[in-house]
Amino acid sequence: MTIENEKRLAAEAAAELVRDGMRLGLGTGSTVAYLLAAIARRRPRVTLIASSPRTETAARELGLEVQSFGSLDRLDLSIDGADQITAQGWLNKGGGGALTREKILAASSERFIIIADSSKIVDRLRPPVPLELLSFGVLATLRRMPTTKIRDVSDGARTPDGGVIADYFGDFADPRELSNQLSTTPGIIEHGLFPPELVHAIYICSGQTVTKTTRREQK
Ligand code: A5P
Repeated sequence: MTIENEKRLAAEAAAELVRDGMRLGLGTGSTVAYLLAAIARRRPRVTLIASSPRTETAARELGLEVQSFGSLDRLDLSIDGADQITAQGWLNKGGGGALTREKILAASSERFIIIADSSKIVDRLRPPVPLELLSFGVLATLRRMPTTKIRDVSDGARTPDGGVIADYFGDFADPRELSNQLSTTPGIIEHGLFPPELVHAIYICSGQTVTKTTRREQK
């Protein structure tokens, strides 16, 4: 229960950032579920954009109205979870398979905020790195990337945009180097390595204490 409590406290701290009139992006995952509940309790007048059908459904069940991301060209704030976080502010994301939409929300937001429990802190990012692949020629893409495996269909291998979710299991020391390599590989739509420059602040809860680290404070 401690981890669940940490997720909830981090999410509730970040929910305080939400103001009337904002265009707000919502990530995906179990930590974001606590964020949705906190936002629903506050009932702000905001425009909500969800990064996945899972988040959209959960938000609607809480009485929150969700818009499509077709008619807006920017967001004020997006809040999301992460699978791994380093002291330098690098993230590994996409355990829930929503990495491409999450990265679009991050890149489109004036502030991209991460919420997490203390188990997400790592000394360095490690595989697997989630990938979204184009289904066209997917076997050929995989042949060029032998350490990559498509997820089981039961784990949600297909995205709402028609992509195929896979995981890259190759070891790596430098996330920027791997990020550049993955970004320039034909057939990879997006990968789960998020650089520190995409992240405005990270709210991590350890025990009962939420610590906020802004981009400037990262090591
Ligand atoms: C979803 O695709 C992921 O990027 C999530 O943000 C990440 O997996 C964190 O999820 P939890 O909050 O469930 O740990």
